[in-house]
Amino acid sequence: MNTPDTTPANTTVHASPYGTLPPTSTPALRRPISLPRLAEMHQRGEKISMLTAYDATFAAVADAAGVECILVGDSLGMVCQGLHSTVGVSLESMRYHTESVVRGMLRSQSTAWVIADLPFGSYQESREQAIRSAGVLMQAGAHMVKLEGGGWTTEIVQFLVERGIPVCAHLGLTPQTVHSLGGYRVQGKSDAAASTLRQNAHTLQDAGAAMVVLEMVPAPLAAELTTALPHCATIGIGAGKDTAGQVLVMHDMLGINLGKMPRFVRNFMLDASSVRGAMEAYVRAVKDGSFPDNSQHAW
Ligand code: KIV
Repeated sequence: MNTPDTTPANTTVHASPYGTLPPTSTPALRRPISLPRLAEMHQRGEKISMLTAYDATFAAVADAAGVECILVGDSLGMVCQGLHSTVGVSLESMRYHTESVVRGMLRSQSTAWVIADLPFGSYQESREQAIRSAGVLMQAGAHMVKLEGGGWTTEIVQFLVERGIPVCAHLGLTPQTVHSLGGYRVQGKSDAAASTLRQNAHTLQDAGAAMVVLEMVPAPLAAELTTALPHCATIGIGAGKDTAGQVLVMHDMLGINLGKMPRFVRNFMLDASSVRGAMEAYVRAVKDGSFPDNSQHAW
């Protein structure tokens, strides 16, 4: 098991340029997560913990709990806005929630890496449209943007990365295309589908994607891709225990999903007495490899 880095921030952080103001919170106990640190963690085999958050308070709690990456996911369409899918989420909503998350983190450790989803319709048209949309989220405080899709996104990913915007890809079940996929179901099961997924993952790594979310993908395929992609950390959700990291929707892992709980979720509130405690338990379980358990949470 790899232990989390608890090196005090002031022993490692370089001086801030341009007269940066001190944080509003007490000094951070951890080093801030950066792209090179995420790459190092992936290379060393240290698991990466990621949770969604959509508002200032939960983001501050997740950051204080040691969650390494906070995803401002377009799942906010479902959990915050009551939509049936992520398709109706606007760029303006993503901007609003990203700003809220980043403001909340400034009241905490502010060490987490913040990823914001490019919503449906904000990048599909052209790479120019994609960079305009990504600019909105980066200016709201995101460190990285995430976009869904296979080979057709390669050109967009390369365009953004070359212009200094870190990108997380998203393969497997891509919720923005749920209507084409015919529902929320496991992807990459047939040989042909697995081979397309493999090819897309390699192309996206070559285009510069530093991370890829693998959603509802058979565990053996996700494990194979994790080894095959040294420069692109795989983050699983319903993809088994052998990915470089794990992500869950916060409301799911806190057990406040009012619908049918997806198979890949564990309710961390069951053994916790606080939200922060549940998040700390999640980070520990991801780090020590006890979550997910392939016999219960994977395909
Ligand atoms: O929007 C989201 O929360 C996501 C996760 C499910 C990975 O994309």
